[in-house]
Amino acid sequence: MTTAAALPAGLPTTTARDSRPIGMFDSGIGGLTVARAVARRLPHERIVYFGDTAHLPYGDKSAAAIQAYSVKICDLLLRQHCKLIMIACNSASAAAYELVREYVGSKARVLNVIDPIVAHLGRAYAGRRVGLIGTKQTVNSNVYKKKVDELDAGVDLQSLATPLLVPMIEEGFFSNSISDDIIGTYLSNAALADIDALVLACTHYPLIKDQIARYYRGQVDVLDASDVVAADAEAYLAAQGLLAPAAATPPAHHFYVSDFTRSFEESTRIFFEQEVHLEHYPLWE
Ligand code: DGL
Repeated sequence: MTTAAALPAGLPTTTARDSRPIGMFDSGIGGLTVARAVARRLPHERIVYFGDTAHLPYGDKSAAAIQAYSVKICDLLLRQHCKLIMIACNSASAAAYELVREYVGSKARVLNVIDPIVAHLGRAYAGRRVGLIGTKQTVNSNVYKKKVDELDAGVDLQSLATPLLVPMIEEGFFSNSISDDIIGTYLSNAALADIDALVLACTHYPLIKDQIARYYRGQVDVLDASDVVAADAEAYLAAQGLLAPAAATPPAHHFYVSDFTRSFEESTRIFFEQEVHLEHYPLWE
């Protein structure tokens, strides 16, 4: 149950309730780390998740391609009457957030996974040096840097694209010596020298958070955005009077993918911490 005490100070709350679902999308199943955090924090909310597995990975795609995919996915989520659309992917948040917001208009609210962590950096790391790792799309877009600089809080953000990490995680390569080597090679890059914190700017990376934390031996804070994003969604829904009413039975979430394979379904367990049934939704056929 959500209480006003759990919300950041200054945000008004209302007692209004809205039982429509929260829509979320990602290039694949990585965004399930955000879905998991939202489901934990907001247990009465019904989630409609779309993983665009037919186009995975987004991290190597052009902004124009990601924008076209995102708009079509939003059509599906709007047909499902979602009150809120969460872009549970950093690459899509970087490439398509403004466009999606304009496209969706007043039909639903839209949140991305970048703004909450940028605000957190402004609050907790003013005047400090912070590293960031993500896909090529996220890092080359420079969106984090622009938003952090706009805060004018003296956060010195140093970013590094780490494109091998998504395929490595998708192949189940983590917590082993090969992934230790890949992670160590990236994190020893001069761009990330002398940082106080590292932002995991990809929704796949919570799965290697512990390995990254071990690399830094407690010297660097490793920031997994999913909890910050879920807390932000809760505060937003409460302020807008859009939280779901409490129900006696747990909500029936739906998880759609644009291309189905058994291995995607098996991998849901590691991202969502329980295996979920994936429904094939051939959006591109
Ligand atoms: N989960 C996506 C993100 O947060 C990365 C995966 C991909 O490249 O599609 O950027």
